[in-house]
Amino acid sequence: MPRRRILVTSALPYANGAIHLGHLVEYIQTDIWVRFQRMQGHEVHYVGADDTHGTPVMLRAESEGLTPEQLIERVWKEHDRDFKNFSVGFDNYYSTHSPENRALCEEIYGKLEQSGLITKRPVEQFYDPVKAMFLPDRFIKGECPKCGAKDQYGDSCEVCGATYSPTELKNPYSTVSGAEPVRKSSEHHFFKLSDPRCEGFLRRYTQGEGHLQSEAANKMKEWLGEAGEGKLSDWDISRDAPYFGFPIPGTDEKKFFYVWLDAPVGYFASFTHHVRSKKLGEHLLQDFLRPGSHTEMVHFIGKDILYFHALFWPAMLEHAGFRTPSKVFAHGFLTVNGEKMSKSRGTFITANSFIEQGLNPEWLRYYYAAKLGPTMEDIDLNLDDFVARVNSDLVGKFINILSRASGFVVKHFDGQLLEPTPDMQGKEVSWPATFRAIAAAEEAKEAYEGREYGKAMRAIMRHADRINELFDAAKPWELAKKNDAESRNLLHTVCSDCISGFKVLTYALAPILPVTSERIAKLLNLPLPLKWVNIDLPCKKTLPYEHLMTRVDAKQITALTEVNKESLKPAAPAPHSQQRHAQHQENAVEAATEPATISIDDFTKIDLRIARIANAEHVEGADKLLKLTLDVGELGTKQVFAGIKSAYDPATLVGRLTVVVANLAPRKMKFGMSEGMVLAASGDAPGLFILSPDSGAQPGMRVK
Ligand code: 2FM
Ligand code: ZN
Repeated sequence: MPRRRILVTSALPYANGAIHLGHLVEYIQTDIWVRFQRMQGHEVHYVGADDTHGTPVMLRAESEGLTPEQLIERVWKEHDRDFKNFSVGFDNYYSTHSPENRALCEEIYGKLEQSGLITKRPVEQFYDPVKAMFLPDRFIKGECPKCGAKDQYGDSCEVCGATYSPTELKNPYSTVSGAEPVRKSSEHHFFKLSDPRCEGFLRRYTQGEGHLQSEAANKMKEWLGEAGEGKLSDWDISRDAPYFGFPIPGTDEKKFFYVWLDAPVGYFASFTHHVRSKKLGEHLLQDFLRPGSHTEMVHFIGKDILYFHALFWPAMLEHAGFRTPSKVFAHGFLTVNGEKMSKSRGTFITANSFIEQGLNPEWLRYYYAAKLGPTMEDIDLNLDDFVARVNSDLVGKFINILSRASGFVVKHFDGQLLEPTPDMQGKEVSWPATFRAIAAAEEAKEAYEGREYGKAMRAIMRHADRINELFDAAKPWELAKKNDAESRNLLHTVCSDCISGFKVLTYALAPILPVTSERIAKLLNLPLPLKWVNIDLPCKKTLPYEHLMTRVDAKQITALTEVNKESLKPAAPAPHSQQRHAQHQENAVEAATEPATISIDDFTKIDLRIARIANAEHVEGADKLLKLTLDVGELGTKQVFAGIKSAYDPATLVGRLTVVVANLAPRKMKFGMSEGMVLAASGDAPGLFILSPDSGAQPGMRVK
């Protein structure tokens, strides 16, 4: 096969959250494919970057008291660390907030404009009058228009499952400031996806030449509809200031490119930086980014962002003078123990916690590989199965071969291994462990190419089983006790065959286990880096066995879920890039990286209200409590038991205004229900001081 030249990407993670095991499905899947292609001798460039722009990053930075640039720098370091820990070997890991990306976005936009594929028209959206900004759907909450459930997001109801537009919410409020949003119109820039040139191109692109998996191509058919049906809508690619992103040229920094416009361009920006910083030659930019060369561009993505990668992105590239993707490979979502990852169950597991708990990242690489196929089907990480499979396959079947056989070779034959003699070559009976390993590796090779990693793992482990059986059947421990030449020769042959078969399986597992396979290569003196063409080079010697991999202890998994448990928050499903609909990408609010701070979104969950103390009285039998009756305006009257008896005479409280946490879950106390909490200050010195607002505040007003 001629040497392939492939540019490979994984989707860019948002720069406002930690890498978790859901993300890692994709990075591990891609990295395995990249390592496999490299082992075949192909030229592969694997690039990635942080997806840094958009409202969530801007607001998170603000809530942490940072500039967006400071936030994305910190998160970049965390992501880079996580990828390195899991051997995700990007050739360049970059940022969409880069000069290369800005220049490319401007070029693409300029070309689309010249081609008449940009149009402008007014869009009416919710606007936060306090923050003076337009609000993405995810930052608006209110009552579900269907079932009336409170505090539902602007796109869908988590109680009844209804989907709607934010303007349909009842009593909407901005989660940024708490203000009631108003409707406001502004001019937006659109990419004319509905133009017949785009539609025609997309029909050819998505249905021909195998760019997409068949299930994805079918999805596209649905999205494209029948010719002339006009199902494709123009794509809104601008956002108004304030926004963290690149300004659209000629708009005086009032309009910015929508994050989803510049995110995929970030693939090209990262590749450009890779080429220039390593001085690989400018011609590579032409070869890989412009049409006409025999290079490939392969995107690995999650199925939720297919729309962006199979419609907007190729249409944009095609009409801006760039090459289009050769393949878009979409995978399914990750569930843990059969359910969505959950913070309350501790299954929203961060990459870093996995490492910090001392788990071996290659266990996860293997487990994912064993589960991965070429389809968009979801994969499940069953934690019990994880322990069982890693221990039985990786340690019990694979590593076991070398740990058992090398002892005999080192002890009795000074580590020297026999080689199949020329006249024995091809005779499977003589060296069954080796020759059948080659067949298993061939099967794995084909499976890797088609991303059927599960199939590859089954072929490899079946043969590892077989080698162990051959070893056991020869009873080397008995042969070692005999001193006759025939027994010695048999012992030497069996162990050499098993180790040589093990070596072949090591090559076949190298894309999955880069660290362990390199350590094995050093023990067996194999040429590094491992190349598939060398798979049947004879193995001549083994160094004394060194411990290669421990078993997973189930206790480690318990500890892992414990550290990932977030008990303070209710069991709301974690916001997760894999669990939202493609339409709502803009509104993704990722898991916090640092638990020590809270976001503005967390803060606005507390419904603080001005309350008038309508009545205050002693409670019989209570040493510390006063019973307060609060008038909270529109929220009505609330009864609250407050631990302020030591500091206040009830009579002096009646008529005063104070601040109450109005949405605290009611608590049943010994003396009755308490329906809120009055705020009071205290320090080391004695004294307790309830809060009072400035004059003019009215009962029921929000405190924010
Ligand atoms: O869904 C996401 O997490 C996006 N940050 C993926 C962007 S991929 C590419 F287009 F940049
Ligand atoms: Zn509802």
